[in-house]
Amino acid sequence: MARIVALLVAAGSGTRAGGGVPKQYRRLGGKAVLAHALDHLRRAGAEDIRVVIGPGQEALYAAAIGERALPAPVVGGAERRESVLRGLEAIAAAGGADLVLIHDAARPFLPRAVWERLVAALQESDAAVPTLAAVDTLVRGDALLGDAVERAGLLRIQTPQGFRFDAILAAHRAWAGGEATDDAQIARAAGIAVAVVKGSPALDKLTFEEDFARAEALVAARMVSRTGLGFDVHAFAEGEELWLGGVRIPHPRGLRGHSDADVALHAVVDAILGALGEGDIGTHFPPSDPQWRGAPSARFVEHARARVEAHGGRLDHVDLTLVCEAPKIGPYRAAIRARIAAVLRVPEARISIKATTTERLGFTGRGEGIAAQAAATLRLWEDDE
Ligand code: CTP
Ligand code: MG
Repeated sequence: MARIVALLVAAGSGTRAGGGVPKQYRRLGGKAVLAHALDHLRRAGAEDIRVVIGPGQEALYAAAIGERALPAPVVGGAERRESVLRGLEAIAAAGGADLVLIHDAARPFLPRAVWERLVAALQESDAAVPTLAAVDTLVRGDALLGDAVERAGLLRIQTPQGFRFDAILAAHRAWAGGEATDDAQIARAAGIAVAVVKGSPALDKLTFEEDFARAEALVAARMVSRTGLGFDVHAFAEGEELWLGGVRIPHPRGLRGHSDADVALHAVVDAILGALGEGDIGTHFPPSDPQWRGAPSARFVEHARARVEAHGGRLDHVDLTLVCEAPKIGPYRAAIRARIAAVLRVPEARISIKATTTERLGFTGRGEGIAAQAAATLRLWEDDE
């Protein structure tokens, strides 16, 4: 397996876009452009990501990435080319890579298919870039229209641009031209043949203020709603603590299970995993694995939340129903809601807690155990080309 590193350059100042902060830190659909770019890289298949930020952007960067686990950012230079070179040197210092895909944070919506096309092309070529045909009539001009430029054979080049790591590092080090607006130019100057794959309109760069309205519309249109269901049962047992929804509830008996047997949180985890289409709690935390014995179930919820984040998704709502004769859930409803909202890092308004009995019928009616049922609604990115 080739070791692939994604280098995300985010060190610009976004002069042309204007706004209070550099464009990579502005928000789209409630999330920083840089965070969109990171999440799309991850879901496309990037495992190692290095980010290059501008000097003095540390606080903006920290706020944008939130809890995402990343190596320390590299500090970039005054021009994009310099930022890329510093990023490449940092990767080299950390042990290098086989392939590097160099990407602009200002192109936040990388389709998985483009990543796959690039990685496939790099099996054969030392360099590959995504392109789209130029469709508008192209003309030289300034205040007045000049001559039309022959459009046939002209390509618009996007990022990520993929390279054999050693080749592009050497090309960057050897570059003696002026400022270059992309890395393929630098590769070609070093004699590297650059292959072409199909790009995507979703990769168009955010450059001007008006591009942000287009990007907001794209976020709204490409996020689809998915719902998952979760169901769980645990039996009462003597000598156990009772945990429901991450809250310790005083009760003569608790629930028996491999972990803390928090039936409510287990149903929530399964609902979220269901909406993601990623199996169930047992797939992620096998009961045979001793490390989960007695584990607080909030850890499983935290994991489900991280999976949503890895998809670049958003948790819209969780609706949980507890089924038992006793204890009465009412007095703990607010605490459970607050706890689940805190672990999922969403406002309490997005969490609903309900409870019911089964009219003394069945195992819950006889007080043998507690059942829980949950629905989770997520918004996830629809795959496209
Ligand atoms: N970039 C960089 N370091 C620089 C300049 C640009 O890492 N010194 C990054 C930007 O953050 C962006 C990408 O390169 O992700 C493409 O550059 P561009 O669209 O030109 O962004 P800015 O330079 O920030 O914008 P402007 O040119 O309008 O100031
Ligand atoms: Mg620029």
